[in-house]
Amino acid sequence: MESRRSELLAALAEIEPLRVDRVDLPGTTESMMISRPVDYDRLIDDAAADPEQNLPYWAELWPSGVAMAAKIAREPGIVRSRRVLELGCGLGVTAVAALRAGADLLVTDYSPEALALCGLNTLDQAGEQSKTLRVNWRDPGPTLFATRDAFPVVLAADVLYERRDIAPLLALVERVVAPGGELWLAEPGRPPAARFLESILAGEWIAQSEQCSGPWPDPEDNRKGVVVTIHQLRRPC
Ligand SMILES: C[S@@+](CC[C@H](N)C(=O)[O-])C[C@H]1O[C@@H](n2cnc3c(N)ncnc32)[C@H](O)[C@@H]1O
Repeated sequence: MESRRSELLAALAEIEPLRVDRVDLPGTTESMMISRPVDYDRLIDDAAADPEQNLPYWAELWPSGVAMAAKIAREPGIVRSRRVLELGCGLGVTAVAALRAGADLLVTDYSPEALALCGLNTLDQAGEQSKTLRVNWRDPGPTLFATRDAFPVVLAADVLYERRDIAPLLALVERVVAPGGELWLAEPGRPPAARFLESILAGEWIAQSEQCSGPWPDPEDNRKGVVVTIHQLRRPC
């Protein structure tokens, strides 16, 4: 475990220093300590050179990831002993909860830094490093689809904040969620998420939703009264 940790820290050397934040999962007694970069402004400057204009959102703690982790902590049966795929893992808050609950988890993100941080946080907080795969939804390539069958459970927390991602994510979930399987989508009310839901529910997918109003790790999110909706979207058999 120590050598895996050293390898992950070496992969993260360019974004050091890291700090550790405590995340309490709402409605549970569970918490986790999450490593994340200190210098967000430097990451923003580095992103300016990116031709896809991708901002380093993976470096922040988002209410949707916390809400999804709390839901899994309250209801571990959602993922226990099941093959689970996470889209856009960020720092790995949801991944820690899924591994603690006993999921057979594969996490994806387009950011190698996010994948390394998710690996570090799952190793430190779930005692097991998540399996990772670098995937860009806009051009997913063949590897994800070559990993055996589609997944019975797919998790996605706050992944719909840009209009350009609606169509690629609709196409992706049709391929990665198994017939009869579930997409768990946590979202804080951004318009692209509403459009995604409209489209997917115009097909035969069935939704059940519930809300979570924190408290969140960032006091600013509490001040703004952020509410996250978690949708359980079941694909027809
Ligand atoms: C708002 S963050 C949410 C992170 C995490 N799910 C959470 O809730 O804390 C969005 C995540 O999606 C990833 N992401 C954004 N666009 C992506 C794309 N086109 N392909 C793969 N990952 C992407 C980002 O790197 C980031 O980790």
